[in-house]
Amino acid sequence: MMSEKNSNNIKTPAKAGILGWPVTHSRSPLIHDYWLKTHSIDGSYEKLPATSEDFERVVMGLVAAGYAGANVTAPHKEAAFELADVADTNAARLRAANLLVFKGGDIHAANTDGYGFLQSLRGGADEPEIDKSWSTNPVALLGAGGASRAIIGALVDAGVPELRISNRTMEKIDTLRFLCEGTPTNISAVPWDDRATMLEGCGLLVNTTSLGMSGQPALDMSLENLPDFAAVFDIVYAPLETPVLKAAKLRGLRTIDGLSMLLYQAVPSFSAWFGVAPAVTPELRRLVVTNLEEKS
Ligand code: ATR
Repeated sequence: MMSEKNSNNIKTPAKAGILGWPVTHSRSPLIHDYWLKTHSIDGSYEKLPATSEDFERVVMGLVAAGYAGANVTAPHKEAAFELADVADTNAARLRAANLLVFKGGDIHAANTDGYGFLQSLRGGADEPEIDKSWSTNPVALLGAGGASRAIIGALVDAGVPELRISNRTMEKIDTLRFLCEGTPTNISAVPWDDRATMLEGCGLLVNTTSLGMSGQPALDMSLENLPDFAAVFDIVYAPLETPVLKAAKLRGLRTIDGLSMLLYQAVPSFSAWFGVAPAVTPELRRLVVTNLEEKS
C-alpha cells in the first residue's frame, strides 16, 4: 500500500518507538500513545528491544521500514550518536543521543534530556518561571554517571555560576569538566563524605545517582545547610517521592521529581516525528503516576 502524507507532510501511519535493553519497563509508550490519541494522529509508538550487538541492525531496519525515528535509552545513547549522520549541538557536545529522526535518507541525532530537565525546573513550558534563584546561585549535583552529563550541559546553558559536584568515585568528576570549559560556570569536585556541607548557599540540589530508586539504598544526607529558597530535584521517578524529596518537602523546599523530566524530554521527540507540539498536562501526569503505582 502506498503511504500517504498528512497535513504536516509526514507519512501516515507515522511510526516511532523506544530502543533500549531492557525496555520492558519504559513508560514512553504510555506518554506518546496519550498524545497520539489527544491529537487524533494516525501513528504508533512501540517498545523496540535491541541488544548492543543488534543495535545498528535494528536501527537500519527501522529506517528501511519507513519509521519516522526513535527514542534511545540505556545502553544505546552513545551508540546512537555514533551511528547518526547529523547531530544537533547537544548530542554532539554530550556524544550521546536520546532522539533519532530519520529524514531525507539521513539519521539525525538529538539530545532532549537537558531540555526536559530545564523545563521541569522552570515549572513547564507555558507557565512563568517560578523562581530563578537556582540559576544565580551555586548548584550542588550528586553523581557523575551518564545521567549527569545532559544535566550539567543544561545547567551550563542556564548560566549557573558554580557547580559543586560530589560523587562516590571522585575521579569520575574530572571526566565531566570538559562540559564547562570556555563557559562562565566553574566546577568544583567535592568528596562524597562532604556532600551535606557543600549545600551551603546552593539554590538547587540535583540527585543524578541511582540512590533512592526502588531496590536501592536511600540517598542519606542532611539538607540542613540548604538555604530556604533552594529547590531539590531528583531524577529518580520510581518511587515518585524519594526519601530525599520527602525530607525536602518536610523542610518546606520546592521539589521536582524525575517524572517531570521524563514527560518534558518526550515533547521535542513527539514534535519531530508527528509534527505537533504536545502539552504536558495534569491528566497525562496522572496517567503515568497511576501506572507507576500499579506496577511498583
Ligand atoms: P546513569 O547513566 O543513570 O548515571 P551510571 O553511569 O551507572 O548510571 O551512574 C550511577 C551513578 O550513581 C554514579 O554516579 C554512581 O557513583 P559511582 O560513580 O561512584 O559509581 C552513583 N551510585 C550508584 N550507587 C551508589 C551508592 N551505593 N552510593 C553512592 N553513589 C552511588
